[in-house]
Amino acid sequence: MDLFTAMKERRSCRHYLPEAVNEDTIEKILEAATWAPSPLNTQPWEFIVITNKEVKEKIFEEANRCRVWALETSHWKWLDTYPVDFLKEVPVIIAVIGDPKKTGVDMFMEEGMMGYLSACSAAIQNMHLAAYSYGLGTLWFTLFDKKALRGILNIDTAKTPIALICLGKKADEPAPLPRKGVREKTTYIR
Ligand SMILES: Cc1cc2nc3c(=O)[nH]c(=O)nc-3n(C[C@H](O)[C@H](O)[C@H](O)COP(=O)(O)O)c2cc1C
Repeated sequence: MDLFTAMKERRSCRHYLPEAVNEDTIEKILEAATWAPSPLNTQPWEFIVITNKEVKEKIFEEANRCRVWALETSHWKWLDTYPVDFLKEVPVIIAVIGDPKKTGVDMFMEEGMMGYLSACSAAIQNMHLAAYSYGLGTLWFTLFDKKALRGILNIDTAKTPIALICLGKKADEPAPLPRKGVREKTTYIR
């Protein structure tokens, strides 16, 4: 598969079929994550693979609570139609947990402590592309309170839940969202 096509055609999926994803495929996707670069090769990620119905239900409840809170706080009306119900139906949710201590030399810098987050983000993008190559849909989901998610998934308080990655067969083909052109986003210093 052409890598550029995968990067361009991958879409955020918010409707999934109930069909299970086999564990070999999940492991390959996680292996792709672990090949991401990280500061000093600290590999600051850990993964929790969730297929349990009751735990998915708890995650849904937390996301829905945050959705209502965000709606009241922001008054962004579109949030009212913002879907989180798929969290109950998606066959797999992979929690990506970062370790802030594994952030590299930037821990000594004034605006540092971002290295672990950047590395986990690179791992997450690898997961998206690997899943795409297996014909699976994904979503990078972040509408949760970190403390609440730590409680649901029993995560150490010293670690940061960074994202929930939804994974499964797509129930629809999401329309592409446009991107701004490279020229608009780039400055050359020659
Ligand atoms: C850091 C990050 C957080 C995101 N959080 C959410 C989220 O909580 N819920 C959601 O539905 N999509 C979330 N997304 C997905 C974006 O909405 C999506 O990538 C963007 O609209 C572009 O669409 P595309 O992925 O289909 O190209 C997130 C993406 C990123 C990178």
